[in-house]
Amino acid sequence: MAFEIEYAKAPLGHKIHGLDLAHLKEDEFQQLKNIWNQYGVVVVTGQKLAAEQLLDFSRRLGALEKFIIDAYNLPSNPEIFVVSNVIENGKPIGMADAGRMWHSDMCFRPEPSFGSVLYALEVPLSDDGTPLGDTHFASTAAAFDALPADLREKISGLRAVNSFSARIAAAAERGAKDASMDPVALDHLKAQRDKAKAEVPDVDHPLVRTHPVTGRKCLYLSELITSGIVGMPPEEGQALLRQLMDHITSDPFVYRHSWSVGDVVMWDNCSSMHYAIGDYQLPKRRLMYRTTIRGTRPV
Ligand code: OGA
Ligand code: MN
Repeated sequence: MAFEIEYAKAPLGHKIHGLDLAHLKEDEFQQLKNIWNQYGVVVVTGQKLAAEQLLDFSRRLGALEKFIIDAYNLPSNPEIFVVSNVIENGKPIGMADAGRMWHSDMCFRPEPSFGSVLYALEVPLSDDGTPLGDTHFASTAAAFDALPADLREKISGLRAVNSFSARIAAAAERGAKDASMDPVALDHLKAQRDKAKAEVPDVDHPLVRTHPVTGRKCLYLSELITSGIVGMPPEEGQALLRQLMDHITSDPFVYRHSWSVGDVVMWDNCSSMHYAIGDYQLPKRRLMYRTTIRGTRPV
């Protein structure tokens, strides 16, 4: 099957039309994998996948890992993490706030996930039919390349602290102010995260890391999760993180994805970071399935 690439203006987020992920031939799969590695984020449009088909496709990309909070994994297929604002029988069926800040998945783990595959089953729409709940992606590879040489020099060799506890504290503060979060979902999320907190100690990673496949250098930090720079006074470290974050998330490096049902977005957590907007509320429903590809220790 011949497929077509619709290039985004940004360095990532190109759309691929004309592929069926449930029936990919080996050469199509290899081409898709190469495009993914090259750009960091690709959108495969028009998919219709059963849970098992999403899992089979994802397993071709690498070993899968389960999301750390089991309450948000699909009971029949726990390697699928459910991202959703839907509440059934008084219980959220998924995680409502899966990332309303710039982040890279599982950066607080010693071996963060290599990548994620997010499949849209239900997308909330505004009254005029415009999709809500867009996700932004930024290229940490292109952002690194564009840094002035002296800054690249300054940050090479630095390590940054990534903290799940910091993420929880920030999420609790934001959640309390976030009118789009249903109180049931918010209480549930707080309890689940508190449970997970004890099991997730802080970890430090290189601030500039190398993409395990392409060898590209990428900036590696997350907003509100990366809490400081090892060996640097807190204020100085936070100012540097802020400066880098502002640079990465500036227009030239960002693609904003407006979802359609059937989109599959694949990202890698080294050369990109992402964040989701919470501009919708129940009864408008959002339902996504995510699979997560295991990664290695950043170097
Ligand atoms: C995620 C995530 C963003 C979104 O699943 O890791 O950040 O748009 N999701 O739901
Ligand atoms: Mn995420």
